Amino acid sequence: MEYLYYLAASLTVALLVRSKLKRNEAYASGPVPWPLVGNIWTLFRLHTDTERVLARLGREYGDLTMLWIGNWPAMVINSCETAHDILHKDGAKTASRPTHNDLRIRAGRGRLVLTPAGPDFVKLRKVYHALLNSGDQKKSISVVEAESILFLSELLNAPHTFYESCERYVLSIIFTSVYGTRLKTVHNEVVAGLFRVWDVMLKYFQPGTVLPDFLPSLFRLPYWAQPWKVLSDRLIGSELAIHDTFISRIRELSDQGIAPECYCRTLLEQKENYKIDDEQLRGVLAMIIGAGSDTTGSVIQSFFKVMALYPEVVAQAQQELDEVVGRSRLPSLEDQPNLPYIRAVIKEVRRWAPIGCIGIPHAATESFSHNGRLIPKGTIIFPNLVTLNRDPSRYVDPDKFDPSRFFDDPNNASACAVHADWKQRDHFHYGFGRRLCPGVDMGELSLFIAVSRILWAFDIRKNANCKLDMFEKICKFLRVAHLYCSLL
Ligand code: HEM
Repeated sequence: MEYLYYLAASLTVALLVRSKLKRNEAYASGPVPWPLVGNIWTLFRLHTDTERVLARLGREYGDLTMLWIGNWPAMVINSCETAHDILHKDGAKTASRPTHNDLRIRAGRGRLVLTPAGPDFVKLRKVYHALLNSGDQKKSISVVEAESILFLSELLNAPHTFYESCERYVLSIIFTSVYGTRLKTVHNEVVAGLFRVWDVMLKYFQPGTVLPDFLPSLFRLPYWAQPWKVLSDRLIGSELAIHDTFISRIRELSDQGIAPECYCRTLLEQKENYKIDDEQLRGVLAMIIGAGSDTTGSVIQSFFKVMALYPEVVAQAQQELDEVVGRSRLPSLEDQPNLPYIRAVIKEVRRWAPIGCIGIPHAATESFSHNGRLIPKGTIIFPNLVTLNRDPSRYVDPDKFDPSRFFDDPNNASACAVHADWKQRDHFHYGFGRRLCPGVDMGELSLFIAVSRILWAFDIRKNANCKLDMFEKICKFLRVAHLYCSLL
């Protein structure tokens, strides 16, 4: 009997949800949602086979796809113009982060990427920009150039471990900037501990990756019955413990007046000015290390994969390097204006083989509409980097890997990202509007030095028996060691 009541109640709720959806005919089109759980299946596929599903959503639903995470609205933007309209022109309404549950927000005091629009966002944004864009690039350049020498020598002595060398290069740059500490190897407890945490965090970072995203009533269960919260607390706890050790050391050195110049020291000195507490300070530093390393490292790993596919691009880049730089010295940042083909290769790798293809979701702080389609307050908005970066209205022959399309582009990635004419944007890899990646200059600097020096020093060849599948891992953050190319 009880079972029948339950069944009747479920059916009633299901019908109510369906009738509500039918009434709201102004939504963008999308796959039909299931009662209660919405588009759980599409979202599951989206997070497990991201590139293929994103391509399909673009093909089937045009510029906007409506999805439902349970009863919560979400949408995927599939065209450049619509992305520009919604995330840039209407950026004041779409600069927030998802707030449909507190699972991710509670992990994030001080972490800009998890902070919804509001006073904390405004305050933290200033802190991040002050640290990352202080205007003094000289110190960063010397750190990046020094790390790149060790990177090249690792590639020379152990080319088969190039995956790890990419990780060490970017991690060491970011650790030096944040804590004034170099990393000579990735084989240590600190790095292993951080990767353990990041691997799990990346899996569950996106809305729609854990069951209570669809059934929020599960959040009412007692704490011990919510494995997602227990896991999240454990992971955050172990990540923050690593940072506490570094912060305590810088504090001690500061007391003795011998702390190295680094973001941690700056924040300890400026904490009152920035009006942040100790927890936020720790969150800022943890976020910069997380956001600044895996991203850039994955792009360099993608670069190897793409170059293994296109030896003619490697040859053309090397010809440019021979003419402009010669063989007696390494390329440096000063050569950048004179190396248009290398700059174009970097842009084209970002466009053609983006990492994190579903971006970092924005959220709407008020209801509005786009071309007659309602975007309700709270909507979670995913940019579809697969279709944006291959939008035929923006790129000629978009499936072709062709650096020459950017040969005459005089703008760097930051200038492109804020260009008034969206058609001048090189790619959409650094995000949108007020949420545009604040680490773009550091990311681009590390990339230019790595790419130009690797191409100057090595040939990159595909391994004879290796199938290079661009769907495999290329759109996620890469960290699975596949030996797909050789360095000569
Ligand atoms: C090639 C490397 C990188 C890529 C592809 C990348 C990409 C992104 C993207 C797509 C976003 C979200 C933008 C949006 O929501 O519209 C973002 C945000 C962010 N990135 Fe990066 N990033 C890179 C490097 C870095 C570096 C080197 C740092 C710091 C040192 C950094 C720090 C951040 C931070 C703090 C945010 C959060 C911004 C916010 O939520 O307001 N990123 N990044």
